[in-house]
Amino acid sequence: MRASAVAQPNIALIKYWGKQNIAGNIPAVGSLSITLESLETRMTVEFDNEIGADELLVNGEPAPHLLPRVSQCLDHLLGPGRSRAAIESTYNFPIAAGLASSASSFAALVVAASKAAGFQADTLSLARTAGRASGSAARSLYGGFVELRLHEQEIEVETILDAVDWPLRVIVAITAEGEKPISSGDAMNLSAETSPFFPAWVKHQDQDLRTARAAVDDRNFTALAEVSEHNCLKMHSVMWASRPPVVYWNKATLACMETVRQLQKEGVPVFFTIDAGPQVKAVCLPDAAERVLGSLQATSGVLDTMQSSLGTGARLVNNP
Ligand code: DP6
Repeated sequence: MRASAVAQPNIALIKYWGKQNIAGNIPAVGSLSITLESLETRMTVEFDNEIGADELLVNGEPAPHLLPRVSQCLDHLLGPGRSRAAIESTYNFPIAAGLASSASSFAALVVAASKAAGFQADTLSLARTAGRASGSAARSLYGGFVELRLHEQEIEVETILDAVDWPLRVIVAITAEGEKPISSGDAMNLSAETSPFFPAWVKHQDQDLRTARAAVDDRNFTALAEVSEHNCLKMHSVMWASRPPVVYWNKATLACMETVRQLQKEGVPVFFTIDAGPQVKAVCLPDAAERVLGSLQATSGVLDTMQSSLGTGARLVNNP
């Protein structure tokens, strides 16, 4: 009745922004991501009807405000008649700061909880359940380069290229700590309701996905860089044109983008992407990683940096 799993955050290169079905949390658009390796969430789930209600510890502290979403995810996985659960999660990176902690959290949760409950499910069903809790979490069940597609009101998710087949590196520049002003879920719903650019965003997404998928198939870094930066800036344009506007960037976010632009001018194979937060993720070829890391560390306003290779999807681990 007790099991543990680990999962890594993923970073979308072609982004999910907007829902076609809010109740079922079905994305309005497909997306393409890379799963990281060194940032990690570990979840332990124990079913125990001796406890009065579900319990959640995050990095050792009770987290009642996060519990409803976690309990609901377990209800979706196992049905409302399930046993009560004690859940513990630990992170080796800052949470709720645009580093996709919800993605790794719900991916690890469904893997640990299904094992603890003795419930057999394939990876796609687990991904669909994780995706109901957080759309991006569906991708963290899988490793390497991952594509999420929409098919008849449901999601299909698969690894399109393994990490070992194109071992890109990711440098994360932390430019602010603390919780973000508005959650990605609320912000994307606001964009869908108020941003005049939202319909165009949805309309052009398939083209960006095709371009990115071809770039991954061909291991064409230049093509992947171009379409990824374009898709990222387009998503942020949709956010900026929302009412009220959604702006996650700060001065250091822009400074990091400038650093990446300068490196590109010097011929370094690197591009940036930014999610619902002020952190900048620089994706590069392995040989460029040290140079990109040094340049971002030297950029004004950067508080910290993290480096990661690409990793595998969520998996069970031995109980602590
Ligand atoms: C900008 O998966 O956090 O990171 O489904 O409402 O939980 P919910 O949204 P979430 O949104 C992620 C948005 C993004 C882009 C992406 O990861 O594709």
